[in-house]
Amino acid sequence: MEPSINLRHAIEQRRAVRSFEPTLIPSVILSEILRLGMRSPSAFNLQPWRFIILRNLDSKEKLQACAFNQKQVTEAPVVLICCSDRRVAEPDYIESVIQLGRDQDAINDTYADHIRTAISNTFEKHPSFEGIEAWTNRQAMLAVAHIMIVAQAYGVDSCPMEGFIASEVKAEFNIPKEVDVCCLLALGYAAKPFKKYGGRFSVEQVCYAESYGKDWKS
Ligand SMILES: Cc1cc2nc3c(=O)[nH]c(=O)nc-3n(C[C@H](O)[C@H](O)[C@H](O)COP(=O)(O)O)c2cc1C
Repeated sequence: MEPSINLRHAIEQRRAVRSFEPTLIPSVILSEILRLGMRSPSAFNLQPWRFIILRNLDSKEKLQACAFNQKQVTEAPVVLICCSDRRVAEPDYIESVIQLGRDQDAINDTYADHIRTAISNTFEKHPSFEGIEAWTNRQAMLAVAHIMIVAQAYGVDSCPMEGFIASEVKAEFNIPKEVDVCCLLALGYAAKPFKKYGGRFSVEQVCYAESYGKDWKS
């Protein structure tokens, strides 16, 4: 099933939607959005993202109560509670990722040993992140970005939200203590009129050449 909107248009058309039509997302389209979203990259292919998919109104009402009553939570036909699981650093989990790679013929014994060492070094010394939550969050949010762009390519609008009380969401939806809630993602069809584009800083304002602060010119 091919998306109806090309990549450039999908990126340019995506808005954080604050109001949704009641129209449902066909389940084949939702499945494809999730499948392609999970093609997102992650360090060592550990894929720490986890998603709770809400479609029932009573679940969405519970979530809305933890999300400062944001109306998109109940209006949208689908809301994802986007989580990241810190337990991906555990040996059993790492072995399951190695097995996944073996099943695809992508990992041999030498590479498996290399990964085991590299992963344990990363989590012991973590030179590129402060705490494991920052690391798992980083990976999960990339998957969220993938989902938003893929959804838009299928004509499905979205709204990412960090306006929620994490402890309440965790308690309400049985989320284990080692799992963090990264954001909520409402998915559906935007009610008109669409929210206006708020603009972006120019590439020159946010990109630097070779060293931070040095002017970038294409
Ligand atoms: C991590 C994150 C959290 C956000 N939280 C909320 C939120 O709680 N409620 C909301 O209405 N919009 C939220 N937004 C949407 C932003 O306000 C929106 O992306 C931004 O204003 C730019 O608008 P655009 O996405 O339509 O271009 C969030 C966006 C991101 C990426």
